[in-house]
Amino acid sequence: MDAVISSLLILSLVHVGNALSVDYYADTCPDVEIAVTAAVKEAMANDQTVPAALLRMHFHDCFIRGCDGSVLLNSKGSNKAEKEGPPNISLHAFYVIDNAKKAVEEMCPGVVSCADILALAARDAVALSGGPTWEVPKGRLDGRVSKASETSQLPAPTFNFSQLKQSFSQRGLSTQDLAALSGGHTLGFSHCSSFQNRIHKFDASHDVDPSMNPSFAASLQKVCPAHNKVKNAGSTMDTTTTIFDNAYYKLLLQGKSLFTSDQALLTNAKTKGLVSDFACSQEAFNKAFVKSMIKMSEITGGQEVRLDCRVVRSS
Ligand code: HEM
Ligand SMILES: *[C@@H]1O[C@H](CO)[C@@H](O)[C@H](O)[C@H]1NC(C)=O
Ligand SMILES: *[C@@H]1O[C@H](CO)[C@@H](O)[C@H](O)[C@H]1NC(C)=O
Repeated sequence: MDAVISSLLILSLVHVGNALSVDYYADTCPDVEIAVTAAVKEAMANDQTVPAALLRMHFHDCFIRGCDGSVLLNSKGSNKAEKEGPPNISLHAFYVIDNAKKAVEEMCPGVVSCADILALAARDAVALSGGPTWEVPKGRLDGRVSKASETSQLPAPTFNFSQLKQSFSQRGLSTQDLAALSGGHTLGFSHCSSFQNRIHKFDASHDVDPSMNPSFAASLQKVCPAHNKVKNAGSTMDTTTTIFDNAYYKLLLQGKSLFTSDQALLTNAKTKGLVSDFACSQEAFNKAFVKSMIKMSEITGGQEVRLDCRVVRSS
């Protein structure tokens, strides 16, 4: 009997990892969310690129080894961390997580994981940009491994629909989640390198991706010439880059999205239908986004609560 119970227990641990709950810190750190929100607000007041950075950082964290704060670790010795991997071009504002962690450590030392702080900060980034808010399940643990080489597991902006579908399903996420979470591209900025495949030498017969709106493509080519030498050249993700709204979907339907991976949502009947729904209704987008964010942020994976989000705990 004991053996049955313990093997059931092991099975459940394997399948769901550590269980998260919205009141995980109710007794041990009741004001954690107030402290994180304050740190995000303070940073946003000085730098309007912060919300996009925090949202992308959380996505990047969850897609590699689960949401375990692996994206926050610094390289150490000969180990190059995720933040040194090639898709790191958009990663910044790590100091916001450091500031939040410092405030939280003063209130309740050694209790709140960096992975939870990042999940909360991403929620705050969306809410404080005019998007929806939601209760974040908490109780994630921080991981001890971060490898630059593993960033190749992130979906690339050149991915087609089947590649995106596979990347999401490997993490238990559906094509509905793909359609809703791609709406994160309502915030922020992209460098030329991420969409140059669509505006120069697209294929043997087209210089420009024919699914792209021609005048939009021309304006991108102007900022991003074939041999672009301007380091930070690029484009905002949508026309309202600091506002969390459904403009991304409206533009997508007009052929004004940046990435092959954005455009790919229109190549499948199900995701195309969702794009139309979200373009018509901010409410529908908000609801779907919240549902999928909670799902994505429940992919867990860590073992400990770090004291400094950039370094593993010494054992
Ligand atoms: C579906 C697969 C996805 C791909 C292929 C993808 C790819 C990219 C790329 C290439 C960039 C621009 C990097 C640069 O050149 O600076 C970017 C930016 C961004 N992505 Fe995604 N992404 C995906 C999904 C997501 C998800 C799920 C979220 C969050 C829910 C997200 C949020 C963001 C944000 C906010 C930015 C702007 C970052 C900034 O301005 O700092 N992305 N993404
Ligand atoms: C991105 O990676 C490069 C190359 O390893 C590194 O020089 C740079 O500091 C990294 N950027 C961030 C934000 O860590
Ligand atoms: C998507 O890309 C993969 C890898 O390049 C390729 O094998 C596949 O045929 C493509 N799928 C479609 C539908 O174009």
